[in-house]
Amino acid sequence: MSEDFEVILHTKSYLPDPEYKAQSHLGDYHNAYQEFLKNPEGFWDRMAREIEWMKPWDKVLEWDYPYARWFSGGTLNITTSCLDRHIKAGRRNKLALIWRGEDGEERVYTYRQLHRDVMRFANALKRLGVKKGDRICFYMPLVPEHIIALLACARIGAVHSIVYAGFGAEALHARIRDAEAKVVITADVGKRRGKVISLRSIVDDAIRNTPSVEKVIVLCREKCSVELYSEMEEDFYSLLDGVETDCPPEEMDAEDPLFILYTSGTTGMPKGIVHTCGGYATGVHYTARYIFDLKENDVLWCTADTGWITGHSYIVYGPLSAGATVVITETTPDWPDPGIWWSIIEELGVTIFYTAPTAIRMFMRVGEEWPNKYNLDSLRIIGSVGEPLNPEAFEWYYRVIGKNRIPVLDTWWQTETGMHMITTPLGEPMKPGFAGLPVPGIEVDVVDKDGNSMPPGQGGLLVIKKPWPSMMRTVYRNDERYRKYWNQIRNYYTAGDLAVKDNDGYIMILGRSDDIIIVAGHNLGTAEVESALVEHEAVAEAAVIGVPDEIKGQAVKAFVILVKGYEPSQKLVSELTYHVRMSIGPIAMPASIEFVDSLPRTRSGKIMRRILKAKEMNMDLGDTSTLEE
Ligand code: WTA
Repeated sequence: MSEDFEVILHTKSYLPDPEYKAQSHLGDYHNAYQEFLKNPEGFWDRMAREIEWMKPWDKVLEWDYPYARWFSGGTLNITTSCLDRHIKAGRRNKLALIWRGEDGEERVYTYRQLHRDVMRFANALKRLGVKKGDRICFYMPLVPEHIIALLACARIGAVHSIVYAGFGAEALHARIRDAEAKVVITADVGKRRGKVISLRSIVDDAIRNTPSVEKVIVLCREKCSVELYSEMEEDFYSLLDGVETDCPPEEMDAEDPLFILYTSGTTGMPKGIVHTCGGYATGVHYTARYIFDLKENDVLWCTADTGWITGHSYIVYGPLSAGATVVITETTPDWPDPGIWWSIIEELGVTIFYTAPTAIRMFMRVGEEWPNKYNLDSLRIIGSVGEPLNPEAFEWYYRVIGKNRIPVLDTWWQTETGMHMITTPLGEPMKPGFAGLPVPGIEVDVVDKDGNSMPPGQGGLLVIKKPWPSMMRTVYRNDERYRKYWNQIRNYYTAGDLAVKDNDGYIMILGRSDDIIIVAGHNLGTAEVESALVEHEAVAEAAVIGVPDEIKGQAVKAFVILVKGYEPSQKLVSELTYHVRMSIGPIAMPASIEFVDSLPRTRSGKIMRRILKAKEMNMDLGDTSTLEE
């Protein structure tokens, strides 16, 4: 697709109950936005005051394009906003965390218990020799110990890098190496659809040839079945023997790194997105409180995994900072049956439910009789994230789950942005297909490749026009890749998405403008999948594209040129699929593989995936002037 094109916009809209706006923390969106525009730094100064600081900042923003420093001179530790302040404010016995296992097992933590366990694990990490600035890699299932350990890192200033436990050994290896992690924290197993999946054996493979790794901490869930054999391994709970409970928070500079999170890029190795303490803490608290409108009695369930930014910001840091009760579960949406999630909402009284379009489309397909079996009256906000919420999915979500009265918050944002950027704030009209408006604090636009603003109805590139506190600060050990975000169009942050706005300034996200495929809400770089394919001895060259998929949004299709001597066969298809599965993980598995003799290329030899895609979808090939004969 070129950078600008016309889009026909539908203008259906739903008006939510005015009570939502009247009762919300944000109040009237347009007023809030105007307040921000009048004094952007004043706005962020106010927001930063809502979290806990050890030393106040001297300056809200220092902008040295494309580098931002927010809240310079200020010091803090994000865990005091997430834990200590609630202890002081009378929330000691309030539930912070409710965990649900696949077999219905339940564990709960009050804020006091969470605070205590975080401090104990923090002391255990210190005893192991972990220091401020050390990188700690996580490869863990979604269990309470995961949340405890990651907050413990933040407590002592260690930088966490969480890797989704569905990734394969090679993907994990690459992330451990890039971050030069000192410690890896894992569990013996994860549980999924009644099956037990060994995580530790994947870690064993992944830490070969990673000289930085000194220790592997293993949470043993299957009691006694694991023998920790090597000198490197430590048992999660044995580490806590004899540690002190009190662990004062490490004083962090506002600009010290809080975590690294890898996200797929358009070339090779994923990018280690770096977030810092002060700006990130401010951004996620702000959006948890003013966009999700978290109140004292809210029970938030964000169905993402902690391996993605959505989990970082809206399972852990945002809602805990806002003092909510957070639900986490290891369950999948359709196992043992597609009623499981709705039963959890009913039973736990979830008030805010945040999921992905791919899950919504799966639920649409299995039928509304499943949610209709349960009482979902506790819900007051339902959200969506990760890919465009198509109008059909919106309508279903709003009608069947929202009962035609609960606001749907379709939130657009990225690993790089750290927090919600575009959504339909509570009380504003909802338009199916549109994510909505920029949140106060954020200025966005749709522009052509030279940065000229596009009129309504004309598609273009989505940009963010000004720095914001929770923006990424760099790409770990690859600052050039960071600068690219701000250099593609001068002075603007280019998000990599195509979008279009309507006459009211509502923004519809149309998809990626680059070589990133979003499969069931998970970002994959075509280059990542291609390099996994060419590793196989039978593959000479490979090109990968995203093709539409009814449930997952997109699926991976691979075109493969075989090495001389290999013949196309179904067996080879299975072998290649399995190979990708083992190296990157099940999310990257090609849905189909086509064997070809050649691939379309530019004269300089670059594969033109755009042409493959257009052919696949019987579309116009577009500009082919650079295509080699
Ligand atoms: C896509 C996830 C349409 C988009 C928080 C973005 C969306 C990428 C939406 C970032 C949405 C996310 N509507 N598209 N509401 N939310 N995206 O880094 O292409 O995993 O650039 O962050 O997901 O994915 P990431």
